[in-house]
This record gives sequence, C-alpha cells and structure tokens, in this order.
Amino acid sequence: MKRSGSSIIFLNSRNEVLLLQRDDRADIAYPNMWDLPGGHVDEGETPESCIVREMREEIETDVSACRRYAVYDFEDRVEHIFLMELDVAAETIPLHEGQRLRWFAAEEIEGLPLAYGFDLVLSEFFASTKNHCPMDTSRFEAHRYFLKDFIRQTFDFSETDQNRRIPPPPVEKPCDPQAEKKELPKIETLTDIGHIDLRTAIAKRQSCRTYGDRPLSLGELSFLLWSTQGIRVRLDAGHALRTVPSAGCRHAFETYLSINRVTGLEQGIYRYLPLEHQLLFEFAEENLERRITRAALGQQFAAEAALTFIWTVIPYRMEWRYGPAAHKVIALDAGHVCQNLYLACEAIDAGTCAIAAYDQDAMDSLLRVDGKEEFTIYLAPVGKKP
Ligand SMILES: Cc1cc2nc3c(=O)[nH]c(=O)nc-3n(C[C@H](O)[C@H](O)[C@H](O)COP(=O)(O)O)c2cc1C
Repeated sequence: MKRSGSSIIFLNSRNEVLLLQRDDRADIAYPNMWDLPGGHVDEGETPESCIVREMREEIETDVSACRRYAVYDFEDRVEHIFLMELDVAAETIPLHEGQRLRWFAAEEIEGLPLAYGFDLVLSEFFASTKNHCPMDTSRFEAHRYFLKDFIRQTFDFSETDQNRRIPPPPVEKPCDPQAEKKELPKIETLTDIGHIDLRTAIAKRQSCRTYGDRPLSLGELSFLLWSTQGIRVRLDAGHALRTVPSAGCRHAFETYLSINRVTGLEQGIYRYLPLEHQLLFEFAEENLERRITRAALGQQFAAEAALTFIWTVIPYRMEWRYGPAAHKVIALDAGHVCQNLYLACEAIDAGTCAIAAYDQDAMDSLLRVDGKEEFTIYLAPVGKKP
C-alpha cells in the first residue's frame, strides 16, 4: 500500500501561499528546496490528525479549523492537501523544522521546482483561485441555501396558513381612519408626466447620488408611487394586482417616504396607501436629515435627496402562502420594485440609487416599526437631476 502524506496550503489575504525551505542536508529528501508544510501520516493517524500534529510540532500553529482541499494520488504516495487562511508575517512564525518560511505569490512559484511534486498542486490551486474567490466560502453555505429552491422538498405546504384556510392578511397595513391623509393625483389625470420611451429609460438608467435643489411635484411623486406599488386590480380582501410582479401576488412591502422637498408636502415621514392612492402623514421628525444619514450608515445623499423611499416588509404576508419558502421571493420582489423606481425616475428627469447598506435598528426606529413583524428592507433616495 502507498504511504500517505498530509500537507497544508496556508493562504493569506494577498493571495500568497506559505512555503517552507527544507534543510540543506544530504541525508534528507529534496534538500534546500521549497516545500509545502506537512508530513507523513503515521500509523493509526487520520490525515486530519496528522496535519494538526505536524503543524503543532513544526510551526506551533493550530490548524484544527483547516478544511480539506484535495487529494493527489502521486506515484510514491497519496497526499492529502488541506487549506487554511492565515495572515501573519512569516518571520513571526516559530519554526522547528527547515531553514525558513516565506510567502509566495503565484508568479513567484511559476517554474520553481518544489519538493514532492507540490509545483503541480500549487499551479492547479492558483489556476482554480483565478476564477474563484479564495476566501473560505464554506461558511456561506446556509446563505447560499437560502437562494436555492430545495426548501420546497423539505416543507409540507399543506401546513401553510393559506392551506389551513386561514384568511389572508390585508393587502395594506391598516391605519387609523381618522389619520391625516393626502390625496394623490390619480394616474389617469397625469397626462403630462412620465412619458418617455422604454428603450430610452432603460438605456439612461444609472444610479444617481447627486441631486439638484428642485423639488418634485405631487404629480411626479404620485407617478413614482404608482410605478412602484400602484394597484391595477383589486381582486379580493387579500389580493391585488400591482404595477410590479410579486410571488403568489403577495406584495409584502409597505412604502414609507422621508419627504424633504416635495411641493405641497411638509417634511416628515409618510406612508403610501396603495388601495386609496393616498399618502398617510405618519409624523414630523425634527432631526430627519441627521437621523436618516446615520441610519443610512453615513450615506449623506439620503438626506440631500428630495425624498427617500424606504420599503419595509411584512413577512407574514408572504409566509401565509409560502411558509419558509417566503424569504427568497421577498428579496426577489424587492428588486422589481426598485427597478421600476429607477425607470420611472428617468421619465421625470430625476435619479435614484438603491441602498441596501443601512443600520437596521436605526432605520426601523426612525420609521417606528417593530423590527420583527415589519422591518426595513431597502431604500432609494430620489431627487431631480442636477
Ligand atoms: C441591491 C443593491 C444594493 C445597493 N446598495 C447600495 C448602497 O448601499 N449604496 C450605494 O451607494 N449604492 C448601492 N447600490 C447601487 C450600486 O452600487 C449600483 O447599482 C452599481 O454600482 C451599478 O451602477 P449603476 O446602477 O449606475 O448601473 C446598490 C444596488 C443594488 C442593486
């Protein structure tokens, strides 16, 4: 039976690998050559326990968190290759075997003969990292799983509230009937707003983070709200078709607006009521500019815009139908809404920029939503082009 070896590729954030220069002695194999750290698998040892032991002995480094990278079936042995990120200066690593350690970039290794045929291992390793991120992506498995559709195989859809005949949640978050509301001009009356050919809108669309001082008119705001969440057909108490698509027609979003410069509207936080095509005045906020900038993680353009769209999600609206398969489609749905905003902005000489980087708690507390049954999911400041 062939003997086995275990060796390890230490990779640093500059995409370099750590090599060890072997002793310059005639009585050892590959004297003076550069080598991957590692050693022979002893009897009764697994390749994993071998590499942990070898690295403890050779360089006093704990590699118990390393992962398997590959197995090479060489003529003289089977070599188990492990991989681990390590970001330390080579000189600071204690060395008990060999002459020295050094980090090597891919170009430096090209054509350099390495001990034990490791030139082949490293050239294949660098070739594979050219198109792939060298970071340890195994820790993203759960997040990647969320993007796939396996969930349907693991969940019994007869358990959803929809299939248990529980009535659907309302299409729109209810509000106090006495609350102050502002009628928005109906889309049919806005004959002079939003006419641009689709091809031009698509061709011109780009993220815009600098805005002019001109306010938006109420008609323009009405057009943007209709484009992003407007209702086309009310089907029943729990379903309405809108200008954007949504998985299972669930439309799990609410649209809040942080208004700065819209003709006829006071500054403050508003919420769009799509069924009525009205604006609900939620509250005035003294330090709106400061709070929104902070909640947008210092992205000042959110405060400089004429207004900022802040979409929240009420996950139960989607969970009612899809259970644990709801969350991926919620994220997909958010993209449709914001893309319509980008295109609609082009039609009114305005610009917008999607924002997904924000402080969750700060944004939820700014909107006064509970952060559990309803929370912020996406933002988009809007302003006239400069
Ligand atoms: C989901 C998503 C999140 C984004 N988040 C931010 C953000 O937090 N801040 C920002 O300045 N731009 C953000 N952007 C805008 C992107 O940076 C922008 O779309 C990208 O650079 C391409 O430029 P373009 O939109 O002009 O084609 C985001 C875009 C998307 C689609």
